[in-house]
Amino acid sequence: MKDLEVAYLQFNPAQALALTGFSQELANSGGPQACGVAQKANEYAEALRATLTPDQRTTLQRFTEGHLSALLFSQMHSPDDPLPEYLPCQSELEQDQGTLYLASRNQLLLALARYRAFAFDIDNDGKHVRLVANFKGGGTTQRPDEDRRRPVELSSHSGLRLGAHTEAPYNCSVIAHDGHSPAPSALILAARWNPAQEPTHIIPMAGIIERLGGLHALALTSCSFDFTRSECFVSGQGQAGKAVPILQFDANGGFSLRYNAYRFSLNDHASQAAERALDAFQALLMQAQPLPFVLQADKALLINNCRALHGRDTVMDNRRLLVRLFGYSPFARPLIISDDPLLVRG
Ligand SMILES: [Fe+2]
Repeated sequence: MKDLEVAYLQFNPAQALALTGFSQELANSGGPQACGVAQKANEYAEALRATLTPDQRTTLQRFTEGHLSALLFSQMHSPDDPLPEYLPCQSELEQDQGTLYLASRNQLLLALARYRAFAFDIDNDGKHVRLVANFKGGGTTQRPDEDRRRPVELSSHSGLRLGAHTEAPYNCSVIAHDGHSPAPSALILAARWNPAQEPTHIIPMAGIIERLGGLHALALTSCSFDFTRSECFVSGQGQAGKAVPILQFDANGGFSLRYNAYRFSLNDHASQAAERALDAFQALLMQAQPLPFVLQADKALLINNCRALHGRDTVMDNRRLLVRLFGYSPFARPLIISDDPLLVRG
């Protein structure tokens, strides 16, 4: 039986063709980072929505309302984009039309689910498009420029294994709080190249919270947990956090969760009940069977960042390149710095 937390939306050939044309138009206009493109993406999403079947609409609606951990879009056209012998450098890839096309398609798919693509001022240099690839070493295969004696940053720009996490920042989930915008409501990933078929892992959290039980879940809502600063933050910006909850009630989907297996710890002043709850939570996570998704260019994975953790193993083939965007749901209330393209305070 398929996991009820995950849904699949397969485009028919006519929809896939329209999606290709629209995505190319958006890319030609400069992609997610260009002024006016978000509005175009919304218009194209509206046109595409008119072609959806009732089942496809229902599936999308479930994601929009916060009831799904992940939605896999499939049967899209794969661009003619041959695998290179080596991964090009980051700046070259960021300018490249192949990247821009997938980023634009991601923006359009976010808009189809009524989400808004955005960037944080403190993260990824304020850019919408994040390239997930081994630019900094730490993968199974050594990069040509890699010095194995040097420490490698624990971020999506390395090849290191990334334990289960939601995306930072970890201050709040839906409504801005204490000068911080909420964590991304969702992230969307597409693979430009993934020659070794390396999976992205998803852990839906609803079942884990149910198994945890009411008292432990309640303890996770207390301000008893600390987190360390993310290494993808802009130098000098973004902070570690102290005394935050992991779990919160949320009317859309029932809960929102923020957690990172390699960044969260118990606060010094936490109660024993909170300590026991964190132990129980981590024990359940250890037992969880992550759901593997092997991304390729004909697919995109939309992950609910309030309802599911994600992670990956050590990168094996250094040509693996994912293109990621963050999205805010219609319920999110960030602190907006500029509207177009949408930039928010982290
Ligand atoms: Fe991530």
